[in-house]
Amino acid sequence: MVIISGSASRNLAKRIAEALSLPLGNPEISKFSNDELRVRITESKTGHAAIVVQSLSAPVDSHILEFNFICDALHRMGVTDIYPVIPWLAYSKQDKVFRPGEPLSVKVVAKILQVVPMKRLYTFDLHNTAILGFFDIPVTNLTARPLFVEYFRKRISRQTVVVAPDAGAIKISTLFAQELGVPAAYIDKKRDLVTGEVSVSGLSRKVKDAEVILLDDMIVTGGTIRETAKFLKTRGVGTITVAATHHLYVPGAQEAIEASGVDHVVVTDTVEPAVKSDKLHVLSVSGIIAEALSELLN
Ligand code: R5P
Repeated sequence: MVIISGSASRNLAKRIAEALSLPLGNPEISKFSNDELRVRITESKTGHAAIVVQSLSAPVDSHILEFNFICDALHRMGVTDIYPVIPWLAYSKQDKVFRPGEPLSVKVVAKILQVVPMKRLYTFDLHNTAILGFFDIPVTNLTARPLFVEYFRKRISRQTVVVAPDAGAIKISTLFAQELGVPAAYIDKKRDLVTGEVSVSGLSRKVKDAEVILLDDMIVTGGTIRETAKFLKTRGVGTITVAATHHLYVPGAQEAIEASGVDHVVVTDTVEPAVKSDKLHVLSVSGIIAEALSELLN
């Protein structure tokens, strides 16, 4: 068994390899002069099984193609058992045909990712568990929640309230609040399907002087967090800490979140950190992945 890292997840792959005491391969990734992607596995011996770690962060389509090329190269080298670890599955917000004329994009991406035969895919906090059905192979949908529970358990007080920024986050936020033993509240959020703009119109409980933990699966533009933070401020909130599994580091998003009055942002390394800030704290999912993969080594 060997761990092969795509260019999107070098640090995470290194941590997983160390945790499992497995050799780590970093393929050569370059471009031909005509802009075509070029991939080469440099290990001469790989054995029959490989774990391929590649987050589908920006540049998204290039990282998808790179993943496919790595898997194809391994397949041609005689690796029969390929286990992809895709900590952040891009296109997962495009999980429905929202308006007539649109594709079911994440289903197409699921097919593309499976072009080379593989055994089982490992991913994190999928935006919608219906996406599991778009894959023909088994998928393990891991969660970063235990990391957040451990992190926040030492930091909660009698004022702590977990807030779900939209209807999609209610179930997970309630569970998280129960695990921490604190109350939960829900925001009424709407997003314009054409402009992407977010608006907030209501909140299910009082949050005056509360220490809010805003739990979401991902930060993309930061619009959801920004608008929620602004709304919470109008209700006299004390502090706001954001906890989100995936931070996609869209340029300007972190700065805009901080400008909206958020005190701290706690995320994981499903996407390699691309900004530095005193207000940003990154927890590693490497331990959770290593534990899940250890079943393959027994
Ligand atoms: C929405 O359904 C998701 O759970 C997130 O709230 C959303 O994707 C965050 O995106 P943005 O940062 O662009 O508001």
